[in-house]
Amino acid sequence: MTFKLIHVGLGGWGMDWERTALATIADRVTVTGIVENWQPNIERAQEVLGFTPKQCFSTITEAVSAVEADAVLITSPPATHMDLAIEAMLAGKHVLCEKPMATHVDDAVTAINISRETGMYLQISQNYRFYPAPTKVVELLREDVLGGLARVNVDFRQWVHDAPAGEHPYYDLDHPLLSDMAIHHWDLMRMILGCEAESVYVQRSDPTWSNFRDEASATAIVVFTNGVVVSYRGSWMSSDTPTYWAGEWKLECEEGLINWTSRQGGPFGTQGDKVTIRTRSGTEIPQPLVHMPVWGRSAGVLDLMRWIETGESSQNSAANNLGSLAIVEAAITSLQTGEVEPVRIPLL
Ligand SMILES: NC(=O)c1ccc[n+]([C@@H]2O[C@H](COP(=O)([O-])OP(=O)(O)OC[C@H]3O[C@@H](n4cnc5c(N)ncnc54)[C@H](O)[C@@H]3O)[C@@H](O)[C@H]2O)c1
Repeated sequence: MTFKLIHVGLGGWGMDWERTALATIADRVTVTGIVENWQPNIERAQEVLGFTPKQCFSTITEAVSAVEADAVLITSPPATHMDLAIEAMLAGKHVLCEKPMATHVDDAVTAINISRETGMYLQISQNYRFYPAPTKVVELLREDVLGGLARVNVDFRQWVHDAPAGEHPYYDLDHPLLSDMAIHHWDLMRMILGCEAESVYVQRSDPTWSNFRDEASATAIVVFTNGVVVSYRGSWMSSDTPTYWAGEWKLECEEGLINWTSRQGGPFGTQGDKVTIRTRSGTEIPQPLVHMPVWGRSAGVLDLMRWIETGESSQNSAANNLGSLAIVEAAITSLQTGEVEPVRIPLL
């Protein structure tokens, strides 16, 4: 028997979920119904993916009463995530929801409380965690291969600035860097350092000719509870060589450097993942990476299935993901106040 999903939000990324992430695990997962509130996207999903009119709904409530499902996958815009998740959990369904979990930490807390009351699991798709390179870096730090960690530098660079002003959907996103994109990097910092962020300071670094409404480039200093300081430079409009999506990381340790990158994107799967150790004497030692036949979003779906089967919580549970969302909130506040802001993770 396959795991049954209702899929909400068949926009650009939702279609990509169907064509790639869910297609890879089609032997284990079936989408029994879709929920979409924009008619042209319902028609596209019918034409391209073969859903029948009887499988298409405009609300989760209609869908759960008409088709069988174990869980609901949410790939709609962030502002809609928690209301939809709550609707699904109250209807007795587990939820896998795209990042960022919510636009405010308080909304996420409300949904987490409902998850606890209903016994329905709420998991966030932080897909960058399920790649070989960050998995290896966690192992290297855990095994203390290069001695104590001193500091971390992260660079993220892309160029999404060719379209004229007003003509690219990203230009109008709320906080395209600090929320929409950097949540992956904040989340990887927490995964790799194994602790929470304490404070963050952000300075916007956009040029006057930016077509973005909100920040597209910024520099941040994030201090973690283990004392490690991460310096982060991110930009959607960098003319330097683009990085892979997880960014370029340098971890300076007592005995040398860990250089890594991950998530080349597109059709490349895990191919671009790379971890190299450089000892203080300059010797470069490429690190063997684990083979992941299923990675990224697909691995996240399997992780939710495992959670349901074993009751052992996912590393991407909403409760854990709150630490990443809290960095987003503190980073946006710092951008506005120009001050160092504490990262406040509510007690659940
Ligand atoms: N993890 C990643 O690497 C990654 C990459 C891209 C996008 N995303 C995330 O995926 C999500 C969707 O992004 P997108 O670019 O596809 O957005 P989009 O705006 O292209 O698509 C969203 C879709 O949701 C539908 N929708 C909106 N409200 C709805 C509702 N109440 N019920 C049903 N359908 C509704 C819209 O009609 C649209 O079809 C966002 O949270 C985004 O941050 C994640």
